[in-house]
Amino acid sequence: MGGEAYVSRARWTWKALILALCLWGFNSVSSAARLSASRQKLEVQKHLNRLNKPAVKSIKSPDGDVIDCIHISHQPAFDHPYLKDHKIQMRPTYHPEGLFDENKVSEKPKERSNPITQLWHVNGKCPEDTIPVRRTKEDDVLRASSVKRYGRKKHRTIPKPRSADPDLVNESGHQHAIAYVEGDKYYGARATINVWEPKIQQPNEFSLSQLWILGGSFGEDLNSIEAGWQVSPDLYGDNNTRLFTYWTSDAYQATGCYNLLCSGFIQINSEIAMGASISPVSAFRSSQYDISILVWKDPKEGHWWMQFGNDYVLGYWPSFLFSYLAESASMIEWGGEVVNSEPDSQHTSTQMGSGRFPEEGFGKASYFRNIQVVDDSNNLKAPKGIGTFTEQSNCYDVQTGSNGDWGHYFYFGGPGRNPNCP
Ligand SMILES: *[C@@H]1O[C@H](CO)[C@@H](O)[C@H](O)[C@H]1NC(C)=O
Ligand SMILES: *[C@@H]1O[C@H](CO)[C@@H](O)[C@H](O)[C@H]1NC(C)=O
Repeated sequence: MGGEAYVSRARWTWKALILALCLWGFNSVSSAARLSASRQKLEVQKHLNRLNKPAVKSIKSPDGDVIDCIHISHQPAFDHPYLKDHKIQMRPTYHPEGLFDENKVSEKPKERSNPITQLWHVNGKCPEDTIPVRRTKEDDVLRASSVKRYGRKKHRTIPKPRSADPDLVNESGHQHAIAYVEGDKYYGARATINVWEPKIQQPNEFSLSQLWILGGSFGEDLNSIEAGWQVSPDLYGDNNTRLFTYWTSDAYQATGCYNLLCSGFIQINSEIAMGASISPVSAFRSSQYDISILVWKDPKEGHWWMQFGNDYVLGYWPSFLFSYLAESASMIEWGGEVVNSEPDSQHTSTQMGSGRFPEEGFGKASYFRNIQVVDDSNNLKAPKGIGTFTEQSNCYDVQTGSNGDWGHYFYFGGPGRNPNCP
């Protein structure tokens, strides 16, 4: 009897011990999880503190964005060690359209352009000596694959026309329909870009229309300056069409980012926020809207300047950020790019441009018009020897043309998945 009691007590003790061990194990697992969660929260918070500088004033946009007016000398660029003692250039020394050449101003009546603006303008303006910066929210960072990757493109997203290695191009899952020029020295480019709001099938995909200013080979040291509009649910948390810029000096590895999400670009303009929604956008067989973008190299300082529309000189990328582009660009590209993540092993139905093929023409297909390059005498010129490139023309295509009004132009885009693009 006594023996049995002893055995059952021993069993009970064993059970209790195992239970206690389990509880202890469970507890330590969950506290490890808690610890790593709080570590991540801390990391995200630190990153947000780096990005979101103290605001002089904040403006709430109808799309849910908060636009912070940051004192111009407190912008993210000045976190860069090389920019500690940088004196901000409040205007370029040279403009390829002669905007700052007093003799030329009278020649060119300045058209106050189309009604395109940014959505947040309905709720206020930033004061002088500040720049508008889209506030980064915790959710924005959490949507990224890691805090480090937030605001960055994945590798190898450059369309590589001539010597394209097909496997590599297709492997990356990025699809393009572009026009390009190469084989010369370029000191800038401009385009007027039709604005649409293409549908994105998966949040981790995007659709954009932009120009690329490229320097170097397509290797690990590629230099790129990019600007245009994009719809990117992962980056912004919605499907709005937004103005964006990008730069890298090492093929998207360690340097560069979208907008002001790292130090690099120096903004001087108080009216236009990078990454903010553009409004209105074009509608099928209805009103068409476009934006003009000009990027050029200041021959004196060597910085790459960017202008939006006819009226807004946004700021510049300092020359020291780049290796090849410190001299000149070797290739210019204009056009569309989407990410095809092949959901359900089919081609994505994410749209490029308006989601229509080029042959549909004005009011239906999306266009780039008046595409130009800046030549070695710093003048805007028609691009010579335009090539086109697309990975799969049954999914997205491009068609060039030229006429008096539109100069060199092209229609581009498409619906992605369709019977000819399964
Ligand atoms: C990419 O892959 C598609 C489908 O596999 C193929 O039809 C197309 O030719 C490829 N593109 C290039 C540039 O090789
Ligand atoms: C974006 O659009 C997709 C469909 O195109 C929709 O499923 C998704 O809910 C939209 N996302 C937001 C944040 O509105």
